[in-house]
Amino acid sequence: MTQVTCATAHPNIALAKYWGKVDGPTNLPAVPSLSMTLDAMSTTTSVGFGPGLDSDRVVINGRSATEAEAGRVSALLDRVRKEAGLRTRAWVETANDFPTGSGLASSASGFAALALAATKAAGLEWDAARVSDLARQASASAARSIFGGFVTLAAGAPDTIFLAAEPLEGTVEWPVAISVVITTYEPKAVGSTDGMRHTRATSPYYAAWVEHAETLFERARIAVLARDLEALGTAAEESAFAMHACAMAAAPPLVYFSPVTLSVIERVRSMRRAGTPAYATMDAGPQVKVLSSAADAARVASILREMPGVEKVIVARPGPPASVKLIRKGS
Ligand code: PMV
Repeated sequence: MTQVTCATAHPNIALAKYWGKVDGPTNLPAVPSLSMTLDAMSTTTSVGFGPGLDSDRVVINGRSATEAEAGRVSALLDRVRKEAGLRTRAWVETANDFPTGSGLASSASGFAALALAATKAAGLEWDAARVSDLARQASASAARSIFGGFVTLAAGAPDTIFLAAEPLEGTVEWPVAISVVITTYEPKAVGSTDGMRHTRATSPYYAAWVEHAETLFERARIAVLARDLEALGTAAEESAFAMHACAMAAAPPLVYFSPVTLSVIERVRSMRRAGTPAYATMDAGPQVKVLSSAADAARVASILREMPGVEKVIVARPGPPASVKLIRKGS
């Protein structure tokens, strides 16, 4: 009997950024982070463990996974097999309803959906914190996509053995929005894991970033608890620029911005000068994510949509937690 499980998870955007890992037995962030889960984008993943397969079969957006992608999926499945006492291989089919691999947090929703679908398919009755800890080992930002609304993830220490994200209760209803400004569909040049390793090894500002990130995180957390958009937006911009300044000081420099990234940032600042509270944040790619009130979001998005070099703008509100959509038993 094979159990096929389908799970959906939403990407999240960090407003207090995670950048850098500590040495430890698993994938542990060096700084605490705070994010918003996005309702408008999602990854849906089906997993089935079954006899007759000699290796895991992984299909991403309708094509066979590359060796590197399949390796990361199998590493997560191996942890699940160990916990569940399973020896069978699995087939995995996953699809995003948004562009993959261009700094749009597809690894967050991807590994969150995989962790949830795989644990359920293996018959493990885990709570959300345990699933979040599993997802975190594949991609730290994925730990946050298990939960809805605004979510925190603490920093790890070298001896940390369990680290799960935590939701800030009641924040799904906060009427704010993030406009995701897509400036290119090209995959990013340097992935986050390599970028973090390189920054930590060569940036003279790395220690200062790790120290300051704690303060920025605390400011962002207090702003969310107070539902203070201006305080959150200010901390979020400072966090994004501090992270990128640290990465740009690496040798050779790590520059994720394109000319369009900079012109969108400048447009957001000019909207703010004209009285609209809007704030920019950028991850390991040239896209810009703009935080505003839900009431201002449609107007902010339509202004940014008109800019040269902007491909698309997706407006997202705080989204729901990852969920299991369907469980089917087959032979
Ligand atoms: O979890 P990863 O390896 O995809 O790294 C995420 C890094 C950033 O997106 C740049 C920041 C963050 O906290 O999500």
